[in-house]
Amino acid sequence: MIRVLFLGDIVGRAARHEVIQQVPTLREEHALDFLVANCENAAGGFGVTPKICDALFDVGVDVLTTGNHVWDKPEIIPYIETQPRLLRPLNMPEATPGSGLVTYTNEAGKRLTVVNVMTNLFMAANDPVFSALDGALVRHKLRRDADFILVDAHGEATSEKMALGHMVDGRASMLVGTHTHVPTADQRILPGGTAYQTDTGMCGDYDSVIGMNKEVATDRFIGRGNSRLSVALGAVTICGLLVEADDTGMAQTVRPLRRGGELALA
Ligand code: FE2
Repeated sequence: MIRVLFLGDIVGRAARHEVIQQVPTLREEHALDFLVANCENAAGGFGVTPKICDALFDVGVDVLTTGNHVWDKPEIIPYIETQPRLLRPLNMPEATPGSGLVTYTNEAGKRLTVVNVMTNLFMAANDPVFSALDGALVRHKLRRDADFILVDAHGEATSEKMALGHMVDGRASMLVGTHTHVPTADQRILPGGTAYQTDTGMCGDYDSVIGMNKEVATDRFIGRGNSRLSVALGAVTICGLLVEADDTGMAQTVRPLRRGGELALA
């Protein structure tokens, strides 16, 4: 059995500190082989810095994924070129710094491949996501190249992420969505054995508008102000998806994790 926990978008300082504090406990409590997290909003809601990545790796995060906010802090560009465990979306144009895929082998010799893609609908222009992800899974196969394959599909549209899930069914151990910052209740194992959830939800304060101060965000919608969005710093819910896979890399169990704050599960 391989046990993997994926944590959704870490939004801002309070969430970051909570994740950093809880990762060692989560690893032990769930006897995790791997822990992966999306960090693209970890620096004040916009981007991520080398220092934050190092802090997350130091406490036991194995691989970090991102999305449309990956370059918000420009100092991440030289860092990503030397740190293969920080990913940017695979389907960014050729010659973009960094990589969208990594295979990481842990001390026990288990191999985790993580693929980070960004969807196309309602997102900044990138290469077509379906062919990029399909190609990655033609080149990287379960059992032959990895014991567990995790796909982070970063995007807005639920339909597109669901279609991506079906496309990789039987070829990836899990496909989880990120970016909307709202967890969906559709976690399940698809017919071919891939664990799926349209969006894992953020690690952040849910007394907010997708992690941002609710008054400022609401005023902007109403047209009453145009202040810069700032991260909501109340109680944090850590949101994730826990998957167990067998020796073939196919999912056997899938369970959402929601701890603390407004969305805690009993
Ligand atoms: Fe995003």
